[in-house]
Amino acid sequence: MINIDINKINENDAIIELEKIAEQMLKADGSYYQDDTPSLSDAQYDELKLLNNLIEKKFPHLIRADSPSLRVGTNIKNEFKKIEHKTPMLSLGNIFEVDEINSFIDGIKKFLGTDENIDIIAEPKIDGLSFSATYENGIFTKAATRGDGSTGEDITENLKTIKSLPLRLSAPYPKYVEIRGEVYMSKKDFINLNVSQEKLGKKLFANPRNAAAGSLRQLNSKITADRKLELFAYTWGYCSEILWTTQDEFLKTLKTWGFPTSPEIKHCKSNDCIADSYKRLEELRASLEYDIDGIVYKVNDIGLQNRLGFLTRTPRWAIAHKFPAEKAITKVENIRIQVGRTGALTPVADFSPINVGGAIISHATLHNEEEIARKDVRIGDRVIIQRAGDVIPQIVEVIKESRDDNSKEFIFPTTCPECGAHAIKELDEAVRRCTGGLTCPAQAVERIKHFVSRDAFDIEGLGNRIIEDFYKEGIISTPADIFTLQNRNTPVDLFSTDSLELEKKEGWGKKSVDNLLNSINNKKLISFERFLYALGIRQIGISTARVIAKNFGSFKLFMNEMIELNTYQLLSIDGIGEAMAKDLTEFFQEEHNINTIKNLLENIKVDDYIDDVDYSSKIANLTVVFTGSLEIMTRAEAKAKAISLGAKVAGSVSAKTDYVVIGKDAGSKAQKAKDLGLKVLTEQEFIDLINS
Ligand code: IVH
Repeated sequence: MINIDINKINENDAIIELEKIAEQMLKADGSYYQDDTPSLSDAQYDELKLLNNLIEKKFPHLIRADSPSLRVGTNIKNEFKKIEHKTPMLSLGNIFEVDEINSFIDGIKKFLGTDENIDIIAEPKIDGLSFSATYENGIFTKAATRGDGSTGEDITENLKTIKSLPLRLSAPYPKYVEIRGEVYMSKKDFINLNVSQEKLGKKLFANPRNAAAGSLRQLNSKITADRKLELFAYTWGYCSEILWTTQDEFLKTLKTWGFPTSPEIKHCKSNDCIADSYKRLEELRASLEYDIDGIVYKVNDIGLQNRLGFLTRTPRWAIAHKFPAEKAITKVENIRIQVGRTGALTPVADFSPINVGGAIISHATLHNEEEIARKDVRIGDRVIIQRAGDVIPQIVEVIKESRDDNSKEFIFPTTCPECGAHAIKELDEAVRRCTGGLTCPAQAVERIKHFVSRDAFDIEGLGNRIIEDFYKEGIISTPADIFTLQNRNTPVDLFSTDSLELEKKEGWGKKSVDNLLNSINNKKLISFERFLYALGIRQIGISTARVIAKNFGSFKLFMNEMIELNTYQLLSIDGIGEAMAKDLTEFFQEEHNINTIKNLLENIKVDDYIDDVDYSSKIANLTVVFTGSLEIMTRAEAKAKAISLGAKVAGSVSAKTDYVVIGKDAGSKAQKAKDLGLKVLTEQEFIDLINS
């Protein structure tokens, strides 16, 4: 232990002592949280902490970035500022069956064009809340939640209160690195927390994951400090120098830095070993201290990971193998109709609330009338329900044996329950849709909800209830009205039909109105893909919107092409077919849609698409066609490479093609390229071109 006299200590000694204490505590935390063998007694640990605080009190300017005193949280209100991830936080593709392991591995081998064994690291998939913690020059500087994947919420102070997070890395470390992992609450601490919540008459958490999320996303980090949170680290985001060549080595590095890593990780060299690790973990699942919802398989070799790269939102080099959904039995109390933003009438079953694998479920979608008929679900039936992928609840089957005379068939309406317009079903569609268009209040409201949702404008403070209220009162009738709220929010003026004083509304005050208007103002600049997604065009999800944005660059240019019905470029995009093109062009032929967009553009700006594609390459913005069988790279790899270098990859040769890369046994496309006088390259020439 350190022996010093606080009253006599001078500044130079204080610097040295504070460093010694930080080091000892780092070591002690490491042995406590990683090895489960405390190197200091509780009393010794507390003594060090006290000493640290006394010295800091005397020399507040000497408080170190990794000081143990920073772990206790502060009463200062966090504002959940936004933090942009330097590298996006992506998600993982899913598989559900053991058989699919083979397809995953085969897919990898095919992409890489190899028959060799692929080493895999199998890690438990922790069911918590992901975080990204930034270390600059070895010091923890900030942390964020995943958020929308590109930007998360600032949880720096809150994460600091988790004692197993190292505040400093031991050398060697990269100059700048984002370390990622999962914050969780142990099953035991979750139960204890709920017991004390109940005593205090506070709301209970449905499962450990929600408890962890609720504890981490606290505005007051003192509350976070009081909750027992833990973490596991498992990957990195941006990293200035990658000092490891395999995931295995990375996990070891994490340990030397003091991060907890799951003890259940296996290194597999065969598909059988992978399947065994899955079965083993499935058996262990119930006895583990923390919740897991599956297992993650990662290609061990970082070089191969880089070659495999990413699909839109998920890596090709990793996949999550989910555990089977948990099931429960409950009763269908009612079936009601919900009208969505595209007018679809969706039947929803309401249940007697029931706990399914830790979450309380009270309703599930029945999709459409055919689904009700297929499953033969009636009001009053007892049904087996499950959470698919452990999230979305669904009815698996009706327990016909327990059906009694009181069960009642549901008659699907042929008019919209919200606006009374006819609801019709096209011959080739399963869905019945309201024909009321924007005159149907349900559709209009749902469109606005979609417009402000997380992947779209992501406007905080404009929740579903507020949108419904504002719509009813005529304050917001279309998306464009959101951005004119500020100008209309003036003292009520008898001569203007437009003015409103939000502050005077029940439940509102100056501060809450200011917050709302501020969060709207902050969203006046939006990316192309978010904007396109926000428009709520049928079939256009956020990944499709991103692909379109990537291909067209500017929204205005894209919109003009759609108005002019020029679908050539659209259809040349991999993954966009005739049906999507039809929905897109139809949307842009409607005058009221164009007017909505024009009104919006008066108040907001849509940014051109920016990505991490290398536009300095020789093939940037050019169109490339691959044909014949390639020998050095696989077709998929060549295509992914070309896209990452800013090229467009088309499936057929035309006068607009810039390069045709010809592999072995190329057929008619090669001939056509020659006929058109296009630039033709061998695979090697293509590689030389992109490397030059
Ligand atoms: S690796 C590129 N490893 O699962 C994505 N993720 O469904 C790399 N998760 O977003 C993620 N345990 O929040 C990875 N051992 C593990 C994980 C894990 C839990 C979470 C993570 C991710 C989500 C994907």
